[in-house]
Amino acid sequence: MNILAIESSCDETAAAVLDAGPRILSSVVLSQDTIHAPYGGVVPELASRRHLQSIGYVVGEALDRARLAPGQVDAFAVTQGPGLIGSLLVGLSFAKGLAYYFRKPLVGVDHLEAHMEAAFLEGPPVAFPALALVVSGGHTSLFLMKKRLHYRLLGRTRDDAAGEALDKIAKFLGLGYPGGPVIQKLGEAGNPQKYPFALPRMKDASLDFSFSGLKTAALRWIDETGMSARHPALPDFLASFEAAVVRALLQKLERAADKVKPFSLILCGGVARNRRLRAAFAELARDGGYEAHLPSPDLCTDNAAMVGALGMEKLGSTKRQGPDLDLDAYPRFISLRA
Ligand code: KG4
Ligand code: ZN
Repeated sequence: MNILAIESSCDETAAAVLDAGPRILSSVVLSQDTIHAPYGGVVPELASRRHLQSIGYVVGEALDRARLAPGQVDAFAVTQGPGLIGSLLVGLSFAKGLAYYFRKPLVGVDHLEAHMEAAFLEGPPVAFPALALVVSGGHTSLFLMKKRLHYRLLGRTRDDAAGEALDKIAKFLGLGYPGGPVIQKLGEAGNPQKYPFALPRMKDASLDFSFSGLKTAALRWIDETGMSARHPALPDFLASFEAAVVRALLQKLERAADKVKPFSLILCGGVARNRRLRAAFAELARDGGYEAHLPSPDLCTDNAAMVGALGMEKLGSTKRQGPDLDLDAYPRFISLRA
């Protein structure tokens, strides 16, 4: 039994083949960073056009590397949402075409749930209940998983996502796109205490996040200090901002953990590549006595292996026979089980 998975929700065209393990037989990710970099963010129209140009090649490459012909694929999985609707439709239509032609099952997968699934692909089995923090370019969400395939949304961002805040500040300073890796690199040698960012304080006890206040504070510092790409204190500024984003994320994770008392903590999504965040997360888990699950960096940013893993798990839990051609794309997270 094997599965071919496709991911095209944002600016990566990705395909992967997994066996029943699930183990990754191949995983191909074609980034569109160079296309969107001049604009400092993803341009949806350019993204979908590029997906359309690349998808055949990326899927072919994933099959070649797994040494499979398209007709040897047993099932297909594809990201349905959330994401850019035009981009999602490219992957979804391509997957439907394959499933229809080869008369094989097609499973639709949620992108945020797929990010969490990356934690199940590697390392020791995740013990439940598990509390997952999904930190990506478009989402910052906390989920409680009491068992496999069950996700309860506990909190989400009320404004910007953490990755979005990093991307916007990098864009404002003209540092390039995506902002997270650039800020990490340029802030590496900086002093994270130099600029004392205050953490967002919410009036209620909610587990929601907010990053617009940090972003506004960063813009104010930039204005007041004349911060720029050439300013000598740039590394300190970036390190301080990155550290504040990490503190804001982990403060809520810790509060949620105190409340729901999970056995395991999961950190995933593109921002989970961040070294400062990874180290602080590991420390929080150790101090709190939680089991920590942190996917390797390539499984944190968008990829199709996580989509295939979730597709395989979903296939095993339902009786799906043929291609589901009614699957539709959705732009925003819909919490069916919340
Ligand atoms: O999950 P992802 O690949 O795509 C979405 O689903 O949005 O996440 C992309 C986000 C971007 O905001 C990018 O700046 C951020 O992940 N990112 C990082 C790092 N690598 C990627 N943020 C901080 N540090 C990194 N090393
Ligand atoms: Zn993502």
